[in-house]
Amino acid sequence: MYSFSGTGPVAAGARPLGPDWKEHMDRRSAQERVEELRETLRCHAHLYFVEDAPEISDEEYDALFSELKELEERFPEVRAPDSPTRRVGAPPLESFPTVDHVVDMLSLDSAPDEETLRRFDDRVRRGLGDVELAEYVLEPKLDGASVELVYEAGVLVRASTRGDGVRGEGITENVRTIPAVALRLREDVRPAPDFLALRGEVIMRIGAFQELNERLVEADRAPFANPRNAAAGALRQLDSRVTASRPLDVFVYDILAIEGGDDTPGTQWEGLEAIREWGLPPTEMARCASSVEEILEHHAELLKRRDDLDYEIDGIVIKLNDLAARERLGVTSHHPRWAFAYKFPARKEVTRVLRIVPSVGRTGVVTPIAMLRPVELGGVTVSRASLHNREEVVRKDIREGDRVRVQRAGDVIPQVLERVEEPGRERAEPWRMPRHCPSCGFELVERGPFTVCLNSFECHAQLAGRIQHFASRGALDIVGLGEETSRLLVSEGLVARLPDLFEIDEDQLVALEGFAEKSAANLVEAIRASSPVELRRFLYGLGIPEVGATVARDLARHYGTLELLRAASEEELQGVDGVGPKMAEQIAGFFRHPRKAALLDDLLAGKIQLLETEPAPDAGSGGGAPLEGLRFVFTGALDRWTREAAKEVVDALGGRVTSSVSRSTDYLVAGSDPGSKAQRAHELGIEVLDEEAFEALLGERGADSEAGRSGELGA
Ligand code: IVH
Repeated sequence: MYSFSGTGPVAAGARPLGPDWKEHMDRRSAQERVEELRETLRCHAHLYFVEDAPEISDEEYDALFSELKELEERFPEVRAPDSPTRRVGAPPLESFPTVDHVVDMLSLDSAPDEETLRRFDDRVRRGLGDVELAEYVLEPKLDGASVELVYEAGVLVRASTRGDGVRGEGITENVRTIPAVALRLREDVRPAPDFLALRGEVIMRIGAFQELNERLVEADRAPFANPRNAAAGALRQLDSRVTASRPLDVFVYDILAIEGGDDTPGTQWEGLEAIREWGLPPTEMARCASSVEEILEHHAELLKRRDDLDYEIDGIVIKLNDLAARERLGVTSHHPRWAFAYKFPARKEVTRVLRIVPSVGRTGVVTPIAMLRPVELGGVTVSRASLHNREEVVRKDIREGDRVRVQRAGDVIPQVLERVEEPGRERAEPWRMPRHCPSCGFELVERGPFTVCLNSFECHAQLAGRIQHFASRGALDIVGLGEETSRLLVSEGLVARLPDLFEIDEDQLVALEGFAEKSAANLVEAIRASSPVELRRFLYGLGIPEVGATVARDLARHYGTLELLRAASEEELQGVDGVGPKMAEQIAGFFRHPRKAALLDDLLAGKIQLLETEPAPDAGSGGGAPLEGLRFVFTGALDRWTREAAKEVVDALGGRVTSSVSRSTDYLVAGSDPGSKAQRAHELGIEVLDEEAFEALLGERGADSEAGRSGELGA
C-alpha cells in the first residue's frame, strides 16, 4: 500500500541493492523486497504523474524497476497483477477475450438543442413527482473511448471496451499501461470496497496527439484523424507494448457497481469524490445545477472554454445527482432516463473543396490551402483549411471539387481530414504543386514533403508574412496591421523592406482602398507607438527560424542587449537554456547574414528603440524578475483576463504556468467554477488566489498589471 502521509505521498525508502543480491535471496526475502520495491515505485510514479513533482531521477527509477522485474522473473510466485512492472505491456495476444459487463454500459440520449434538453428535464421532474427537487450534476462530455474498470479487493483485475453495451473486449493489459489508471486503489482516505466496477473515458490530450501524429508521419505511417481515434486505436492493440508507447490518459465518471465497504456514495457528487480518493482522476469541471437555466449557462460557459482545454469535449452530460432517484426513473432499452447529453455544435462537417490554392508563408514554405464551400464548425464559419504539404495532398488524394470531411480541433487551424467517396462522380485531375512561386515566380524547391520559395527578400508573399508576424500580438503588437493590410502595403509598394513600415504617412494610406482618414491615422499612430519595445518581443518579431516567444524571452534574459546577442557564437548560444545546436546555428546564421544584418541596423537607426532586458546576475537563472521561480496554475473562468493574457504576463515576469496542481505549485489562480484543481490545491495547502488577489500580487511584485492585460480586455 502507499505510504501517504498528510499532504501527499512520501516516497518509501527502497534503494538499489548491491550487485550480488541475487546469490543470497530466498523466496521469503524476495517477497519482502518485491513489496518494498513496488511500494517505492508506486510512490514515485504518483509523484511523477499525478503530483508533477518527481523526487528521483529516471535512472534511479529504472534501476529499481529492473530489480523488481528481475525478481519477478526469478520467483514467479511473487508476481502480482498490480505490480508496476505490468505497466510496460505484456506479450502480444492472439485476440481479445470477450468480457461480460458487470452492469450494461448504456449510451446516453443526446441532442444539440435546447428544446430536447427541456423535454428531458420535464420528464425527469414528472417522473420524480413534484415533491422532490431534481438536482443534477453537470460534467463535460469527453470525446474518447469508454471503458469499464473492475477492481477486486482494491486491485485492478479487468478492463474492457464498451462493445455492444452488454459485452466488450477484454483490454486489461492495455489499460494497465495507462499511467493515470490506478492498478491498486489508494486506501489512505477511503477503504477500497470488495468489488468495484467503474466507467470512464480513455482520452489522448491534444498536444500528445499532435506529437504522436508527427512521429507517425516521420515513420511513414498514417496519422490518426483525431484524438478519439488515436485513443481507441491505442486501446485495440494486441501488443500492449504498443499501447504503452501511446500517451493515454483517463477520466472516470461513473460507479457502475460497488459491493462491500461501508461508505457507499449516495450521489453522483459523492461518487466523483470517492473516485478521486481512490486515486483515480474524476471528470474535471463538474458542477451541480437544479434548473434548465443553470444548465444552459454551464453549457455556454464550457463551449467558450472548449478551445482552451487540452482534451476534446463535445458537450455536457446532465446526470441526476441522487442515485436512489435514478433507480426510480430506470432505463429505456437504450438509455438511462436520468441522464442526457447536451451536445455542442459539431466541429466536424462535410463540405466541398472549391479550389486548392498554394499559399506562401513568411518562411517561404508553400502550403496548399483548400478553399471550401463555407461550413459551420462548432459555431465558427470556415471557408479555408490547410492541406499541410504536397505529400499530404497525395496521401489523402484530395482534388478540386471533392467532398471532404473537415475538422476544427482546439484552436488550431481547420484541417481537411479525408475525402468522402462519391461513387460515379467524375473527379478532377490530381492537384499539382506549381513549379514556380505563385507570388514572385521564383522556381520552387523541395525540402522533404515541403515546397519552398527561396527568394526570401523579394518575394511579396514572404515579406507580407514577415510584416504580419512582426506586428502580431506577441511581437510589436501593432493593432490594425493584420494579414490583409500587410499584403496591401506590399502590393501597393509602400513597404519593400521591413524598415519602410516606419516611414509610412497618413496621406499614403488614405490613397489606398479600404482606408479612411481615421483608420489611416490609427495605423500610423499604432506603428509609432510600437517603439520602444522590449527586446524579447522584438526578437520574436524578427521571425528567426525556430525562435518562438519562449526562446526569444530566454535569449533576451540571457544576453540583456541585442549587441551581446548578435556577437554570440554558435557555441555560446548553446549555453542558453532550451537552445540546441540546430537552433544555435539558425540564430547565429540570421545575425551573420549581411542583408539581414543591414535590415536590423536600419530598424535600429532611429526607427525602433529597444527596452533592453537586464541580464541575469548569474547566467541561466534569469534572477530578479518579479515572479522568478514561482509556479502558477490557472483554473476556472476569470472575468478580466483571458488565459492567454494571464499566462503571458506571468511568463513575462519570470514565473511559470503549469497545467496541473502539484506540491511545487505556488499559487492556484481560481476563477468562477474552479472544479477539482481548487480541491487539490486545498488538500496540498497551496495558496488559492481569486482574480483580485492575483492582480494585487502582480502589483506587490512591482508589475504593472494593466500592461499585462492591454489589448486583451473587452475583447
Ligand atoms: S455517463 C449511462 N459521463 O458519452 C450513462 N458518459 O453515449 C453513462 N461520455 O459512450 C455515461 N463523457 O462513454 C458519461 N462525463 C461523462 C461522459 C460520458 C463522455 C461518453 C460515454 C458514452 C457516450 C454517450
